[in-house]
Amino acid sequence: MNPSLNTHKNIMAKLAVPLLLLLFFQSLISSQASLPLQTTIQKDRSTSQYVITAHLQTPLKLTNFLLDLGSTYTWVNCDDYTSSTYQHVPCNSSIASLLGHYACLDLCNSPPSPNCGNNSFLFLPDNPIKPVDYRKVNGLNTALIDPFALPNAQGYLTLINNFIFSCARTGFLKGLAKGVTGLAALGRSNISIPVQINKAFPSTPNCFAICLSGSIYSTRRGSFW
Ligand SMILES: *[C@@H]1O[C@H](CO)[C@@H](O)[C@H](O)[C@H]1NC(C)=O
Ligand SMILES: *[C@@H]1O[C@H](CO)[C@@H](O)[C@H](O)[C@H]1NC(C)=O
Ligand SMILES: *[C@@H]1O[C@H](CO)[C@@H](O)[C@H](O)[C@H]1NC(C)=O
Repeated sequence: MNPSLNTHKNIMAKLAVPLLLLLFFQSLISSQASLPLQTTIQKDRSTSQYVITAHLQTPLKLTNFLLDLGSTYTWVNCDDYTSSTYQHVPCNSSIASLLGHYACLDLCNSPPSPNCGNNSFLFLPDNPIKPVDYRKVNGLNTALIDPFALPNAQGYLTLINNFIFSCARTGFLKGLAKGVTGLAALGRSNISIPVQINKAFPSTPNCFAICLSGSIYSTRRGSFW
């Protein structure tokens, strides 16, 4: 279904040896001392997958994500998502052109939830470790907007209030490291994590750095400027 799946697998295979470290940066000479945002990257012992942590939802909840360099959609399991602030992305909203959306959910007859809303954009997220069979997993994956936060260099959480990502169902978690409930996407798109962080801090250069270690004992950092 998705022609880039094999590419994702190849990327992950190449990353399986060195351990990965991720950094998102601000201007090096800026007065805004709050950037870069940083997060730790850990190599999972049993799967060799790279896992990063970030905060999501209201109240903020620490969430473990598979780090994937190729994916378009950051996603999280919305079958277990209890935020008080989430919003769906209306199908006729002006941000539509940014999103590379897949379809519109006109009418959802179940009770309102992160997975279910009328007039909501749908995304087409995937799992690069075990590609998702949409016939077996409930395939409606709504686009959501909710706060996302990473620590800055001083350790204070910095909020991206209108972070856009995809809901996914529990079936998407197959093959992912224990404790991982989503995927952090760095693929080339308007909604990759580095792009969204840069949009939240528009006066800063759009760059990020990751450092990978091959060792499961070493915790590395990634920074977003
Ligand atoms: C989107 O559609 C809703 C309902 O159909 C309408 O009320 C709203 O004004 C529309 N918004 C835009 C930006 O077109
Ligand atoms: C990214 O956003 C720009 C507008 O800011 C739009 O012109 C472009 O088509 C978008 N690219 C993708 C891949 O959606
Ligand atoms: C969607 O709209 C229908 C008809 O107006 C309504 O019955 C239903 O409860 C709504 N669904 C959600 C999730 O709000």
